[in-house]
Amino acid sequence: MRIGVLTGGGDCPGLNPAIRGVVYRAIDYNDEVIGIRAGWKGLLEKDTVPLRLEDVEEIISMGGTILHTSRTNPLKKEEDTEKCIKNFKELGLDALIAIGGDDTLSVANALYKRGLPTVGVPKTMDNDLSGTDVTFGFDTAVTVAMDALARLKDTARSHFRVMVFEVMGRHAGWVALYTAVGGGADYVLIPEIPLDMDALTEHIKKVRARGKPYAVIVASEGVELPVEEEEEVRVDAFGHKILRERQVASWLADQIEKRTGFETRWVQIGHIQRGGPPTLYDRIIATRVGIKAVDMVHNGEFGKMAAIKGQDVVSVSLDEAVGKLKTVPPELFEEFKTLFK
Ligand code: F6P
Repeated sequence: MRIGVLTGGGDCPGLNPAIRGVVYRAIDYNDEVIGIRAGWKGLLEKDTVPLRLEDVEEIISMGGTILHTSRTNPLKKEEDTEKCIKNFKELGLDALIAIGGDDTLSVANALYKRGLPTVGVPKTMDNDLSGTDVTFGFDTAVTVAMDALARLKDTARSHFRVMVFEVMGRHAGWVALYTAVGGGADYVLIPEIPLDMDALTEHIKKVRARGKPYAVIVASEGVELPVEEEEEVRVDAFGHKILRERQVASWLADQIEKRTGFETRWVQIGHIQRGGPPTLYDRIIATRVGIKAVDMVHNGEFGKMAAIKGQDVVSVSLDEAVGKLKTVPPELFEEFKTLFK
């Protein structure tokens, strides 16, 4: 078979191991793999590159994606959607493996419904995709943030400061919660739980009153603030607000300093979280979903996504994956609350 593969949406560590898994498995079937560059943009422009063993052999430890990526949305214009279908045929492809999060997989699902044989591979550092227990990219992103948090603690401790650390994660609090728990923060703010400034203030005062010379607060970029937001933030091609432009950490730091009297600084980790070599865990799960996607192509399991369920890699429908965001369940938040004293 001649299989196309693309990576779309925000990059994350694990994309290269996933591409590698696809190519290695395809070799077992004597398939040819064609890389489509820069996500759906590459399909619109027929921008492709052959992917052979020698092209992917050395990429297991590389962050980013050798295929590049974009947030191009071919569903915005009917002519673009049609062009994708036409180009798929003109490229002589038998199947298309789309590696991405909610946005990229929504396109894969829509194209499947228009007759294209697509298979999805889940990725996102946000870990907010349904239908799979976990997505690659998340473990690495949180590990990077946890390391940054340890550094922030050192400087906060030296200066008797409060530090507000803003992490990515969009409208799900997975990244913030795991960073805070794994890094031993004093408080965490996630989009799923409404912000209570009085409770936050009291908590910081309590932490300092028991003699701790500093406090670190992890805040998700998606936290809703109890104020009218002044400026319109920009949106991407899928209509998502560019959340880091809201700078929630800046607002929070200002409020904390005013309310507690403690000197407060704020930091956004931003895209640093998305780079660097994938962790072992991300390499393994990315490789496994890549392998599974090729098996799914050969089993004719189109309109589906390779997913991690427990220790297994299974296939689930793309409808299940893209229907609804997977957010932090209240019970998990309650369980972890015991760690913020
Ligand atoms: O979805 C992954 C993610 O890193 C989000 O956490 C973040 O809000 C967004 O992408 C940033 O997107 P961009 O790289 O387009 O600025």
